[in-house]
Amino acid sequence: MYDKSRMRQQECGVTVWFTGLSGAGKTTICQFVEKELRIQGYRVEVLDGDAVRQNLCKGLGFSKEDRVENIRRIGFVAQLLARNNVIVLVSAISPYRQIREEVRQITPFFIEVYVNASLEVCEQRDVKGLYKKARAGEIKHFTGIDDPYEIPLCPEVECKTNEESVAQSATKVLKKLEELGYIVARMNDL
Ligand code: ADX
Repeated sequence: MYDKSRMRQQECGVTVWFTGLSGAGKTTICQFVEKELRIQGYRVEVLDGDAVRQNLCKGLGFSKEDRVENIRRIGFVAQLLARNNVIVLVSAISPYRQIREEVRQITPFFIEVYVNASLEVCEQRDVKGLYKKARAGEIKHFTGIDDPYEIPLCPEVECKTNEESVAQSATKVLKKLEELGYIVARMNDL
């Protein structure tokens, strides 16, 4: 349970949508931001593609249609939470620009974070070993290999995870939340 005395009077929720290739660092930055916001006493929820696909989006695959449906469902839940003053951190590849824009349109408070690492870098990291499998043809329609990723044109934040530390990337996100008035400004960087 959370310590209620540390809970802030959060006036307004927001959806922070992290998009980028598998292995770009979405989940890692999300976790860092989540931790920091919780320390500061905010109500936070994380909707992570991998986790959501075990329940809310169970049964969906990786065709364009299924990915769009995945994003639509995540967007729907994010909206419900955000309107109840929760800061929602979404981490999903969300490779298609159009559905990202659709979600943005129907979500009152929305920040897009482009977690940018090149395919080469993500493939080198290959944390889950999936790129190797995709290259071997064991996984089809893998984003970046034989499936598209449409880069965001005007993200509110861009994190270049090949050049920045996790703390630096997370700080960019937190600063943007401060700048836009979703959280109270703090003096020090992380
Ligand atoms: S999205 O495209 O619909 O937004 P989502 O973020 O939910 O994708 O799920 C991506 C995760 O599913 C990856 O991090 C990886 O672990 C796993 N995965 C399995 N198959 C694929 C695939 N063909 N393309 C991308 N990711 C895949």
